[in-house]
Amino acid sequence: MSGGRAQAELAVAELRTTWGSEPDGVWTAPGRVNLIGEHVDYTGGRCLPMALTRVTAAAVRRRDDDRVRISSTDPDAAPFEGTLADLGPGQVSGWAAYAAGTLWSLQQAGVEVPGLDVAVSSDVPLGAGLSSSASLEAAVALSAAELAGRADDRELRHLLIQAAIRAENEVVGAGTGGMDQTVALLAEGGSALLIHTRDSRTEPVQLGLAEAGLELMVIDTRVSHTLADGQYAQRRADCEEAARQLGLEWLSDATPADVARLGDPRLQARTRHVVTENQRVDEVVELVRAGRVAEIGALLDGSHTSLRDDYEVSAVELDVVVVAARAAGALGARMVGGGFGGSAIALIRSTDAQAVGDAVTAACRDRGLTLPGILTVTSGPAARRLS
Ligand code: GLA
Repeated sequence: MSGGRAQAELAVAELRTTWGSEPDGVWTAPGRVNLIGEHVDYTGGRCLPMALTRVTAAAVRRRDDDRVRISSTDPDAAPFEGTLADLGPGQVSGWAAYAAGTLWSLQQAGVEVPGLDVAVSSDVPLGAGLSSSASLEAAVALSAAELAGRADDRELRHLLIQAAIRAENEVVGAGTGGMDQTVALLAEGGSALLIHTRDSRTEPVQLGLAEAGLELMVIDTRVSHTLADGQYAQRRADCEEAARQLGLEWLSDATPADVARLGDPRLQARTRHVVTENQRVDEVVELVRAGRVAEIGALLDGSHTSLRDDYEVSAVELDVVVVAARAAGALGARMVGGGFGGSAIALIRSTDAQAVGDAVTAACRDRGLTLPGILTVTSGPAARRLS
């Protein structure tokens, strides 16, 4: 059974046992891994994430009153109960803020969200930098909008992206960009998604990994990070300050010459990351479109170095697994997502999967680090209604 179906069944069982409700429908939305274009989505840059086949499923029942009840199969996630008026900033905290906050921001966007019973189940690992939170937001957003009578079209999906970003920024309190929500709602299965983040324009990009005998391995360091802990916000503030000093609306419009014009070495380094990372995205897209995906390894490596040294968002666990993966034959490797833990990716020949996995695990063991989780991932579809 595919991950989506299995999670859907678990979510339906949860809805029945916790809320005693039969679902009106089940929706799923994917986690994501970002091939390249890290920490540029809030600077108007370009990124190339891929939706995973790992999903959050939401089984949802429309209610006749204004109550909202949300539960999860995750035993650490306490159920939430409130009313449609209780879902906004400062009113919900913890995991439920992602779901409740999305319902609040949908209301703010004019969607007539009904009372709902919601149960979710997910196989997107939490805290692994694979965007479990955006998958939760997207599944809840699509379900609520459809149960509010909205037709599922491109216009709706753009509205849902903005609502999910607003929920995360204003209710959860994490000032994230829009990459995760955009890929969760607009991905096309079988492709990565090139996102021009300043206007949410997207283009599917076929990676052709299997045809080239390659795989994308995700190495979850199992060291958790939280985006709300201040570091992410500081990076974002650095980018805003650098853009202000350069007189730019978007830091991604900076040139290499602009980097030198900044006086502060920290802002120089942050800006250098943004400039070079956007260039690397363009080069990866060009190579992939030319059928040369096997040649993107050095660009992945370059991204890691830039995130480690100029952006300073890596972690020892990430550096160790990246070096070990390369030494064991990976064509390229880098940290992904917000950083400070979470996951790295390695581009590997399918025939090297065992060797790279073993080497990475051994390197962590030798350093006394938590042993990583290893997954090979394929690209899955965007949020959708399953039943
Ligand atoms: C997190 C955020 C994204 C993005 C990445 C870094 O995943 O949610 O918006 O900024 O970090 O690329």
